[in-house]
Amino acid sequence: MSTQFYTATSIDGFIADEHNSLEWLTSLGDANDSDNDHGYSAFYANVGALAMGSTTYEWLLKNLVYANPLAPAPWPYEKPTWVLSHRELPVLPGANIRFAQGDIATVHTEMMTAAGGQNVWVVGGGDLAGQFYDRQLLDEVILSVAPVTLGSGAPLFPRRAVAPALTLRGQPGFDGTFVQLHYDVTYPGAKSSSAQSARI
Ligand SMILES: NC(=O)c1ccc[n+]([C@@H]2O[C@H](COP(=O)([O-])OP(=O)(O)OC[C@H]3O[C@@H](n4cnc5c(N)ncnc54)[C@H](OP(=O)(O)O)[C@@H]3O)[C@@H](O)[C@H]2O)c1
Repeated sequence: MSTQFYTATSIDGFIADEHNSLEWLTSLGDANDSDNDHGYSAFYANVGALAMGSTTYEWLLKNLVYANPLAPAPWPYEKPTWVLSHRELPVLPGANIRFAQGDIATVHTEMMTAAGGQNVWVVGGGDLAGQFYDRQLLDEVILSVAPVTLGSGAPLFPRRAVAPALTLRGQPGFDGTFVQLHYDVTYPGAKSSSAQSARI
């Protein structure tokens, strides 16, 4: 069971542009493309619970669920999802969503129970992933690096993870468009596990 920040990013470290647009990403290929989903379905098969911030939730409502307001699409995740917000957000009838706020450690405990032995996926944004990191609850950062730069936008991971640095796991994958860099997170004073050492 691992808590994973799995996201696509521009080379210069943004996960959305300054207008919260993902057009730069969707134009490169679709995670729902059964011929090449960039490893998404294999990753998602091992996810037991998801967490996202309100901007990400509202992006999904606008661009996916209500992209055609006359024919709303279903919420894309059947697995239990926690949406973090201090505000009252629109509720989607029938969707497996809980709203929460405050200390991410409390949310994480609930997610671990719901995940039933599978992984916890921190969908984004970057600061939310940082909140898990702040509480030493983030185990892995899995980045699909898109071959673009944005110059500004929503930051990938607005934290300083320098000492110790992240540990690069294995060989980066390359599927023709994305380079995937997969890191383990180590905290000050923590011994690296033999599993981690073996991977270096
Ligand atoms: N490239 C990708 O694959 C990818 C992946 C995920 C997201 N995205 C995009 O990246 C952008 C991320 O937006 P963002 O940086 O604003 O991050 P976000 O995490 O989606 O939303 C941040 C907001 O969530 C709420 N929040 C966060 N933590 C909270 C907590 N502990 N308790 C209560 N509320 C909390 C706060 O808003 P309120 O309290 O005001 O509601 C906060 O301003 C979005 O446009 C999204 O679509 C891209």
